[in-house]
Amino acid sequence: MAEIMVFDGAATAGSFVANHIVDALGRAPGFTLGGATGSTPSPVYEALGAHAARGVDFSSMFAFALDEYVGLPAAHPQCYHTVIERAVTLPLGLEPERVHVPDGSADDIETAGERYEEELTAHGGVDLQLLGIGTTGHIGFNEPGSSFGSLTRVKTLTERTRADNARFFASPDDVPIHCVTQGLGTILRARHLVLLAFGKGKAAAIAAAVEGPVTASLPGSAIQLHPHVTVVLDEAAASELSFLDYYRWAQDNKPAWQGI
Ligand code: GLP
Repeated sequence: MAEIMVFDGAATAGSFVANHIVDALGRAPGFTLGGATGSTPSPVYEALGAHAARGVDFSSMFAFALDEYVGLPAAHPQCYHTVIERAVTLPLGLEPERVHVPDGSADDIETAGERYEEELTAHGGVDLQLLGIGTTGHIGFNEPGSSFGSLTRVKTLTERTRADNARFFASPDDVPIHCVTQGLGTILRARHLVLLAFGKGKAAAIAAAVEGPVTASLPGSAIQLHPHVTVVLDEAAASELSFLDYYRWAQDNKPAWQGI
């Protein structure tokens, strides 16, 4: 079972997660953050940026991103390499060599996933993986049907995900069809998963991921197989959880020593 935490809004939730990351980095220089993209992790990155602006030193941190579109030039504002640079690398003052993103523009795209797996393994993996969830239940870009053992590889986006992400592009047709994404097996190797979701539009996917059957048809349900998961929600995203009263009770009675 994952630990479910419900906050009064995305900003409060983002500060909570950012404070935990700062504490973890303080305890273990060389801490490796697994970066997610999409709009959901923005409050975490903003809160981390505020810590950096107040003088917290992030320079010993490493980051590995979850996924990347295939074929978007680095100059495109939605190229995830650029998104991570804008949200994480620059505001936190990380050396660019410490930040890894799958290569979606490689000529040999068919082996880009293998190379990313090698980088991750040589580095020693991810300490805390931030995750959002798509309306299809995807984590990373692992669409329904993804194997729970899958590693980083090229995947085809669903039409639903392309439509959801069209808001970031000039035209819906500009959303790439393919991506390179960490697999569910890759994600499950991270030492701590922090799944965030905000808004009513995510409520069904969260209820299915947290309380539904573990199934490849809802890739987010893979979190139920991981021993250390924190699910960070606002009220709207939590609204379809059957055991919400219990999760609130547990949160209200959380031992001070416990951490997440
Ligand atoms: C995107 C990303 C995911 C993200 C999800 C939700 O396409 N690849 O990592 O979690 O879809 O996006 P958003 O946070 O914008 O709702």
